[in-house]
Amino acid sequence: MANDKKKLTVNDIKNKKIKGEPIVMMTAYDALFAKIFDDYADIILVGDSLNMSFHLKKETISATMEMMLYHTKAVCAGAKSSFILADMPFGSYSDERSALKNAMKFFKLTDVDAVKIEGGMKNVAIIKRLCEEGISVMGHIGLMPQFSKFEGGFKIKGRDETEAKRLMDEAKAIEQAGAFAILLEGTINSVAKQISDSVSVPVIGIGSGADVDGQVLVWSDMLGFFEDFKPKFAKRYLNGAELVRQSVQTYANEVKNRIFPSEEFSYKG
Ligand code: KIV
Repeated sequence: MANDKKKLTVNDIKNKKIKGEPIVMMTAYDALFAKIFDDYADIILVGDSLNMSFHLKKETISATMEMMLYHTKAVCAGAKSSFILADMPFGSYSDERSALKNAMKFFKLTDVDAVKIEGGMKNVAIIKRLCEEGISVMGHIGLMPQFSKFEGGFKIKGRDETEAKRLMDEAKAIEQAGAFAILLEGTINSVAKQISDSVSVPVIGIGSGADVDGQVLVWSDMLGFFEDFKPKFAKRYLNGAELVRQSVQTYANEVKNRIFPSEEFSYKG
């Protein structure tokens, strides 16, 4: 497909909410897939989910700056017309100084357009500081995988009124601090809707229902390459692993039975 798509700016992304146009976001971790997704995604996220879905770790916490920079460079090489967002890994933004130093690394060493950080109130000063330096930030609240060890697992959020109110306060605080959008993960639909209705920046949901301003899925979940577990919200658009398995099995059989390479795939003198 010819790609005549224009890369969105932060303002274009904000305007999508005003115009009621859903924002399409998905993750990518490498150049090859990023190049394919580029024709369809508004935003490509180099998520620290790559620690689980690409490196097969049990959590995102051990993802490092080095890994995130490596994968972000690869995605930027493949995707030329999508807005590229990179996750700041656990421990890389624990105070304003380290947040600025590490966010700067993404901007100096890759072609990233913005960074994403997990956490609400605790990040207000950090988001303000990054924005003052010209770094666009997406906040991430609700279920926050970087807190999964602390919380004893991946817990759905907004189940009671106190938690719903806390999420609402966090969303408003992040917006006030200058975040251009909010990622809301694993949150009860009705709470997600209230949050999206109450802030002027786009709320992009994952496992948070349809009443938000956009959706994000992890590519290896939606294309069926990550088989270790399947979250309820992760619709599978392809049985990727199964298709690859069948093709590789055919290749192996053809090599063993001297079917491949046939004349068609050989150079003749
Ligand atoms: O790391 C990631 O891929 C994420 C998902 C919630 C989209 O943050």
